[in-house]
Amino acid sequence: MPAVTKSAPGKIILFGEHAVVYGRPAIAVPVNQVKARVIVMANPESDPGVVWVLAPDIEINLLLNDLSREHPLSIAVDQVLKSFGIKRLPACTIKITSTIPIAGGLGSGAAITVALIRALSAFLGQSISDEQVCESTFEVEKYFHGSPSGIDNTVITYERPVYYQKGEPIEFIEIPKSLWFVIGDTGISSPTSMTVSDVRKAWNSKTAYYENVFDQIGEITVQAKNKVKSGYFTDLGSLMEANHICLQRIGVSSKELDILVTAAIEAGAIGAKMSGGGRGGNMIALVHANQVSQVAQSLIDRGATNTIITEVYPTRI
Ligand code: PMV
Repeated sequence: MPAVTKSAPGKIILFGEHAVVYGRPAIAVPVNQVKARVIVMANPESDPGVVWVLAPDIEINLLLNDLSREHPLSIAVDQVLKSFGIKRLPACTIKITSTIPIAGGLGSGAAITVALIRALSAFLGQSISDEQVCESTFEVEKYFHGSPSGIDNTVITYERPVYYQKGEPIEFIEIPKSLWFVIGDTGISSPTSMTVSDVRKAWNSKTAYYENVFDQIGEITVQAKNKVKSGYFTDLGSLMEANHICLQRIGVSSKELDILVTAAIEAGAIGAKMSGGGRGGNMIALVHANQVSQVAQSLIDRGATNTIITEVYPTRI
């Protein structure tokens, strides 16, 4: 069996995070400048079922059987075996690397899972549809997030901008011209499962308040979709700011995120907001193409540990 390599991009949520868990829509786009990559190589000398997992970024170098059954990587492998009715893998080494920051709201977990499912399927000589990849990744995501909305696995599987609402058919968004973002990393690792569960607790005790904010986020997201489709990107700035204020009101922003959002706007960005689970991780700034360097520099000057510049390419449906 020849070695197989598959990769998957990161993602950012432009509008609607957290509210999307409660049935409101959200918009996400792939970030192709960062990737998770999985290589599967046969080990013909070893017995079937002997599978090495090497993931240097998270210090994993062990046999699959020694990894906890609850580990997302084990669950992803089980999903693949189950899909094809196979009991165990042929002897192989699975090597996982990623340039997507971990626990930063850029979808690193979902990207690793998508690449792993595709690589294992190809290694086994099986074809797998995007729909199956998306569904299996969602199953694995449940172990990362607790109650994921499904947006990460969707945007990363299809690698296209999506307007996503739980229980509704996936809607891909047509983008008439490139959108440019600068992503600023607070350097603070913040697992999404924790912010999602804190929001759940707060929603349980102040349901009306939270529902009202989620409604506002939903309305902002609908307006944003229309602006994205029409190419009126400058109108997205005030919508990003309104969405960021809603996220502050539900307690998922942080001092560091707020400082970077303000810095981006002062440096001339069209708009800026936190992105993803929050309380750390990344913020995003929508910029004109000729502003990327000045906004990125100003984020670094105000404490960002890293910036990623990403162009979301025009799409046609
Ligand atoms: O932190 P991220 O980017 O993986 O995304 C979290 C988005 C949430 O809406 C907070 C959770 C979800 O499952 O949609």
